[in-house]
Amino acid sequence: MFIVREILLPELRPMTQLRLLGLSGSLRRASNSTAVLRGLQDALALKARLDIFSLHGLPFYNEDEDGEHSPESVRALRSAIETTDGVILVSPEYNHGMSGVLKNALDWASRPYGCSVLRSKPVLTMTTSPAFTGGVRAQQQMNETLASIPARPVLRPQIVIGGVHEKVSDGRIVDDAALRFALAGVDDLLDEIRAARLVRTAA
Ligand SMILES: Cc1cc2nc3c(=O)[nH]c(=O)nc-3n(C[C@H](O)[C@H](O)[C@H](O)COP(=O)(O)O)c2cc1C
Repeated sequence: MFIVREILLPELRPMTQLRLLGLSGSLRRASNSTAVLRGLQDALALKARLDIFSLHGLPFYNEDEDGEHSPESVRALRSAIETTDGVILVSPEYNHGMSGVLKNALDWASRPYGCSVLRSKPVLTMTTSPAFTGGVRAQQQMNETLASIPARPVLRPQIVIGGVHEKVSDGRIVDDAALRFALAGVDDLLDEIRAARLVRTAA
């Protein structure tokens, strides 16, 4: 009965706000990647709540330190991912790959093997660069890593923001076209989350 109401009468759905978690692949104070997340945070307004989790303080992955007594910052990261509905990754391109900072975070989040908090979690990827290529070469690596976990990367045209340094002001992306481009991806992420919920409800 509940399922029928979900499908036929969307206006009767409970107005729960979806929660998203943003991870920036750059630790730089004036990071353009982080600025994209901040801009999205503002632009999403009531559509969804986007929290940005700082990757500062996360140690290098070390299997010796993983397990029951893993570092507190790692437990905080895992808990933030576990309690969110979906994740947005924004990375710069470093030497044609994703940043080591982001890869390290994904490695921590990918464990314990087989029951990672990222397992089946909808994840949207974006890249930025001052170059016109927008960091596109890092996208393949991000999606390979997500597929290996396996998370649930949103399958859609890549979101790449080139010339990003000219689109940021006061630590936020302000360029209207770039923001709309990124927001279209977030809409797809939200659809993916809702679709996954419907499947779970029907099961
Ligand atoms: C080690 C290193 C490697 C880089 N490699 C690339 C690259 O392959 N492609 C690219 O477009 N930009 C590259 N850049 C430039 C970064 O895209 C630029 O520094 C960017 O602003 C960093 O992202 P952020 O603003 O989020 O900190 C590189 C920068 C560094 C420090």
